[in-house]
Amino acid sequence: MICFFNGQFLELSEIKVSPFDRGFLFADGVYESIRTYNKKLFRYEDHLARLRRSLKEIRIDYKKLNSIENIIYELMIKNDIEDEALVYLQITRGTAIPRTHSFPKENISPTIFISVQNLKENLEEQTRGVKVILQEDVRWLRCDIKSISLLPVVLASQKATEENAADAILVREGQITEGTHTNFFAIKNETIYTAPKSRMILEGITRKVVLELCSKFKVDYCEEFIEKDELKSCDEFFITSTTKEITPVTEIDYWKINHGNPGKITMSLQSLFKKIVEDY
Ligand code: PDD
Repeated sequence: MICFFNGQFLELSEIKVSPFDRGFLFADGVYESIRTYNKKLFRYEDHLARLRRSLKEIRIDYKKLNSIENIIYELMIKNDIEDEALVYLQITRGTAIPRTHSFPKENISPTIFISVQNLKENLEEQTRGVKVILQEDVRWLRCDIKSISLLPVVLASQKATEENAADAILVREGQITEGTHTNFFAIKNETIYTAPKSRMILEGITRKVVLELCSKFKVDYCEEFIEKDELKSCDEFFITSTTKEITPVTEIDYWKINHGNPGKITMSLQSLFKKIVEDY
């Protein structure tokens, strides 16, 4: 695998990261996951804007953001990506000795790492739906930043895996925020509900596309928190992300929704989404 690391295209085995990198020591960095459709980066401008914002919020000054798009396309060629690609991009504050919690006094260069891999589609999940579990949201209060500090979601996601669930949906003070790496939607009386843009969720690019679809096709939606206690009164659920696209949720904590079948509105949104990406 050829990756991009600090200005160079390198074989994975050639990359050396210092243990004093602040990403390694403090999870002091941010990331993005981006995918292609028809070999074109999907909503790249939105991902770049989110990355720019994450960097600004944690005060990392990375000066070469404009070159990233070309680097990714170059990586796709170098890695002979057969079909579609999944891109992982991470920028940390950089390496500094000695270890100090506050920013290093001298100017250091941020560390950048980009990998590109063949994307594995999971069509079965998208047609049949998935089970999710509910878990307490114990993350920090800046979930709007795509930080690499992911321990709370690593643990929640592992719990989901152990319970044969596709994701854990997080609940903070009785309200549903989002999944460990997805946004969460509920449908009640033909209106779509999802948590509002705030410090409690990551503003997903797929979420944004779904809401654009709702506006275009006159589906009512409401950016409001769904209460955990309200779930049972909802008709349909789905999760969204770059890799999961629109995936119906058919089971929550052993409660089978609609006899375990994906909802109708969910599936129509999914086919509208598929049309957008097919023509992308
Ligand atoms: N995760 N919420 C969280 C907490 C996420 O980490 C993600 C994305 C999303 C969905 O965002 P988008 O639609 O832009 O993919 C929501 C990526 C896929 C990841 O962790 O790799």
